[in-house]
Amino acid sequence: MKRFFFLLVGYICLTVGKTWGQQIIPEPVIQQKSAGAFVLTPDTKIHIHTNTQAVWDLANFLAESLAIPTGWKFTPSTTPKIGKHINLEIEQTTFKVIAEAESYTLDITPTRISIKAYTANGLFYGIQSLLQLFPKQIENKQQQKIAWTIPCRHISDYPRYAWRGIMLDVSRHFFPKEYIKKFIDQLARYKFNTFHWHLSDDQGWRIEIKSYPKLTSVGAWRVPRTGNWWQREMPQTGEQATYGGFYTQDDIREIVAYAQKKFIKILPEIDVPGHSLAILAAYPELSCGGGNKFQVNGGWKFYREVENSLCPANEKVYDFLDKVLEEVASLFPHPYIHVGGDECYKGYWEKSAECQALMKKEGLKNLDELQSYFMKRVAKIVTSKGKKLIGWGEILDGGLPPDATVMSWRGIKGGLEAIKQNRPVVMTPNTHTYLDLYQGEPSIEPDTYDMLRLQKAYSFDPTPEGVAEGMVLGGQGNLWTESVPTTRHLEYMSTLGLGLWQRYFGVKKIQKIGILLSKK
Ligand code: ACM
Repeated sequence: MKRFFFLLVGYICLTVGKTWGQQIIPEPVIQQKSAGAFVLTPDTKIHIHTNTQAVWDLANFLAESLAIPTGWKFTPSTTPKIGKHINLEIEQTTFKVIAEAESYTLDITPTRISIKAYTANGLFYGIQSLLQLFPKQIENKQQQKIAWTIPCRHISDYPRYAWRGIMLDVSRHFFPKEYIKKFIDQLARYKFNTFHWHLSDDQGWRIEIKSYPKLTSVGAWRVPRTGNWWQREMPQTGEQATYGGFYTQDDIREIVAYAQKKFIKILPEIDVPGHSLAILAAYPELSCGGGNKFQVNGGWKFYREVENSLCPANEKVYDFLDKVLEEVASLFPHPYIHVGGDECYKGYWEKSAECQALMKKEGLKNLDELQSYFMKRVAKIVTSKGKKLIGWGEILDGGLPPDATVMSWRGIKGGLEAIKQNRPVVMTPNTHTYLDLYQGEPSIEPDTYDMLRLQKAYSFDPTPEGVAEGMVLGGQGNLWTESVPTTRHLEYMSTLGLGLWQRYFGVKKIQKIGILLSKK
């Protein structure tokens, strides 16, 4: 009986797979099958219904994407649509919710494909869905001789969340500019809209800052090591720091512009006051202890041995952050700057006479309140640059800076606490959204420190029971790279993100945009 059941399920999956063809990740909100199939042929036209530069750009993107694997040239045009064609159209409306701004409809009939949206962003997502519906060879970089068939259907799709993020840590391992663009392409394919770029941490500072050149000439490099991250040897005296790299400001501008074309916003993170060893290696005067030696290891224990926190009682630290964040703000159009706040080791603060005097003067009862004092001053700097502050859950400890947004990583409890204080949150709990963990049987997986299986990632819902949907801006997967040294390994680990994705985009249906759904 059991066997029969499995055979039946298998048969249904195969049959559905056959009639529906390729499927879309994340699953669209509404998908209705209809009779027949559209077959792409060399004479198919790409029709620009809405004659704007943005639609032309998208039409050219579609034409190029189809040209490579088919070997056919498609020339977009605004001339009347006759014969087989793919229609691209932007409809006029005034939006009330983000879901509408990023929504699209995709209709596939035997003679015509029509993608309609209210914005170029929505149209781009419609095109991404269309590309996923072609046979998988559409990804090939060489010409394929196959039938380019899509079974007919109607799709209406829109995101559940405005914040659909993936974080990449480029400090623990540096990934070059060209690879970052490739990573952005992958995010766009699955309709992520936020690339959180973790640009600084203990083991490397990765962004050129003109007013503090040693951040990159010193802070971007360390002695080369391989093997298990947590068992690496400390640098030896006189050893050359040759491993690392950084992005110039021109690189950053180029990547930001590239991402904008794919409707991805880049959130920069400068992680302070903890995780700041690379800063202190370059500018030791910003610590409480006043001296440092650049190290390569990354385990928690090590933080107690080597000072890696900026000193909150040192006015030079705030001058430093003012100048650094000025340059960061001018490079990234994202409304937020992420200022970290996580895992700050405060042992050196406790021993510092300056910190003790500051605590007395400000009436700060404990070291958490001292960190809160620091974060509140950083928040003022961020605001002075015209940006909003977002930080890891620890920014709640000792008192949240006013107007801060919380990225909840120590489970969801930080998020719930922030919501209680009427502050918005991005949910990114390490229990469900960390992409650097074992995803399969550990004995055959690359070395890491904990386990997260796809099924568990899929079960994550960014909005906990009883919380109003609007308080949760969205969700995010975080790819830390202590144990991810290569781009190949990085791609292997990021597949788990797709699982999360279902939750951020479509699966839990919201019915706010009935207007769009009733339109054809
Ligand atoms: C974190 O995982 N330290 C945010």
